[in-house]
Amino acid sequence: MVLKKWHGSVLLLLVSVFANALGAFVGINIGTDVSTLPSEINIVAILKAHQITHVRLYDADSRLLKALSNTGIEVMVGVTNEEVLGIGESPSAAAAWVNKNVAAYLPSTNITAIAVGSEVLTSIPNVAPVLVSAMNYLHKTLVAADLNFQVKVSTPQSLDIIPKPFPPSTATFNSSWNSTIYKLLQFLKNTNSYYMLNAYPYYGYTKGDGIFPIDYALFRPLPSVKQIVDPNTLFHYSSMFDAMVDATYYSIEALNFSGIPIVVTETGWPWFGGSNEPDANVENAESFNNNLIRRVLNGSGPPSQPTFPINTYIYELFNEDKRPGPVSEKNWGVLYTNGSAVYPLNLGTSNQITGNSSSLFCVAKTDADSDKLQEGLNWACGQGQANCKAIQRGQPCFLPDNLVNHASYAYNDYYQKMHSVGGTCDFDGTAMTTAADPSYGSCKFAGSSNSSTSGGISPTVALSPVSPGAWSSNLEVSRLQFLITAVLFVALMFS
Ligand SMILES: *[C@@H]1O[C@H](CO)[C@@H](O)[C@H](O)[C@H]1NC(C)=O
Ligand SMILES: *[C@@H]1O[C@H](CO)[C@@H](O)[C@H](O)[C@H]1NC(C)=O
Ligand SMILES: *[C@@H]1O[C@H](CO)[C@@H](O)[C@H](O)[C@H]1NC(C)=O
Ligand SMILES: *[C@@H]1O[C@H](CO)[C@@H](O)[C@H](O)[C@H]1NC(C)=O
Ligand SMILES: *[C@@H]1O[C@H](CO)[C@@H](O)[C@H](O)[C@H]1NC(C)=O
Ligand SMILES: *[C@@H]1O[C@H](CO)[C@@H](O)[C@H](O)[C@H]1NC(C)=O
Ligand SMILES: *[C@@H]1O[C@H](CO)[C@@H](O)[C@H](O)[C@H]1NC(C)=O
Ligand SMILES: *[C@@H]1O[C@H](CO)[C@@H](O)[C@H](O)[C@H]1NC(C)=O
Repeated sequence: MVLKKWHGSVLLLLVSVFANALGAFVGINIGTDVSTLPSEINIVAILKAHQITHVRLYDADSRLLKALSNTGIEVMVGVTNEEVLGIGESPSAAAAWVNKNVAAYLPSTNITAIAVGSEVLTSIPNVAPVLVSAMNYLHKTLVAADLNFQVKVSTPQSLDIIPKPFPPSTATFNSSWNSTIYKLLQFLKNTNSYYMLNAYPYYGYTKGDGIFPIDYALFRPLPSVKQIVDPNTLFHYSSMFDAMVDATYYSIEALNFSGIPIVVTETGWPWFGGSNEPDANVENAESFNNNLIRRVLNGSGPPSQPTFPINTYIYELFNEDKRPGPVSEKNWGVLYTNGSAVYPLNLGTSNQITGNSSSLFCVAKTDADSDKLQEGLNWACGQGQANCKAIQRGQPCFLPDNLVNHASYAYNDYYQKMHSVGGTCDFDGTAMTTAADPSYGSCKFAGSSNSSTSGGISPTVALSPVSPGAWSSNLEVSRLQFLITAVLFVALMFS
């Protein structure tokens, strides 16, 4: 059955290359109910310092949109709930909105989505009848301006429109919303857009009255007796976040739609709360958000849709101290307004949040077993996605032409890109970290002060796998996979 096996591995690769091409990312919401909001220039400086690549605004603030121009940061703008009704009732209001708040900033500000309202069905249900009309009018304006490929239109919904999200396989939308949601899904499908979901394990946990272990909400491993399994599909849910996303996929499927990706437009954890909100604390918030980032950047989807990465926007950049409600409501921010992190947080792969980069390098042990070294080298340059160009014949790090040298280069390249998202310097015991820069001559190791590739990579390319857990047991297969990946990339580039 050799043929079948090859076939399977090619398919698998296709899928993983696709995920690569699309990229998994973690962005951040910028709420502005902040009493001492930094200037837009400073906000953008803070975003850049933390290597944030995707932001969502709740409106279309003109100063912030201008400040975001030529930064490479992708921006989702928002139609506020107050604006939805007017736009839903008037195509010309929709056209005016797009011209003023989107077209005027393109292409220098990279606006890629319009979020229409915020949880409209649950927060302003009286406007629901015109929600999809509003989206349609906005989309038509984009089409007329030839911007519909650049800018997608969608609408963030609360998970509350799914009355029983667990088990995910039986979840359905509250049927009183059937007709609106049916129209919505039809719109998303027809326009190649995505479903926007606000999913809060914090509320799932705190409102669950102890049904769920906190470790489940915080993406921590569960003992086998406590694993959360869907009785119908037998899928294991390693986190409540995955279950919430899957509940939404199943609800969409119950209305006979498929192929509409979900983007999580809000999730997070408050780091401070009132005396009746003990779970809103720094330890939980730090745990949730760091584990979330690691989870999302691993690039896989939830159990029912393993090939759809769960692109996610964290709620939120700064504490919004002016928001009404309980104390926790004002304490979801991950950064202070001076730009320093509330708790250590690796947004993407930047070390700047936690302070200094460790400036550690990862190199091969000189006395390591050569078979293991070869395997580690193959893995790093293949699945590990290290950039191994410099150790090819004729390139600056090819000489000395030996396994330890080549493995060191590849291990280190992998490690510099991946250690902040959980990648380790181990390679089956053949690697070790060192503070000494292994660069020599014109061979510059990643992370070296003179290397152009220092300081990691942008989250959009930080993908699975984050640790060399899945060793290919077969060298030939791993070489072949590498080759196929390369060929597919070339194919994608020219398609
Ligand atoms: C804007 O973002 C899109 C989506 O990631 C990307 O393809 C495009 O190159 C970006 N455009 C600019 C001008 O940065
Ligand atoms: C469904 O939505 C309606 C209208 O908002 C609400 O009255 C009802 O309680 C919801 N049903 C469930 C099961 O949540
Ligand atoms: C809404 O859709 C669900 C799922 O397809 C279906 O079971 C239910 O009967 C529908 N409800 C109404 C009121 O149409
Ligand atoms: C979905 O499709 C199935 C099978 O074709 C059908 O029985 C069911 O009524 C459909 N449900 C809806 C909500 O359209
Ligand atoms: C930033 O602000 C926070 C909270 O006010 C404070 O604790 C921290 O020391 C400040 N950091 C710097 C670098 O000023
Ligand atoms: C960061 O590193 C630089 C250079 O190695 C050093 O001078 C500085 O003191 C470090 N800062 C912190 C906060 O560790
Ligand atoms: C580092 O880069 C600078 C500027 O490109 C160059 O002048 C210097 O010689 C380099 N240092 C080493 C050790 O290669
Ligand atoms: C990615 O995360 C999911 C959910 O935690 C997990 O099932 C999967 O094994 C992870 N994939 C990799 C390559 O680490």
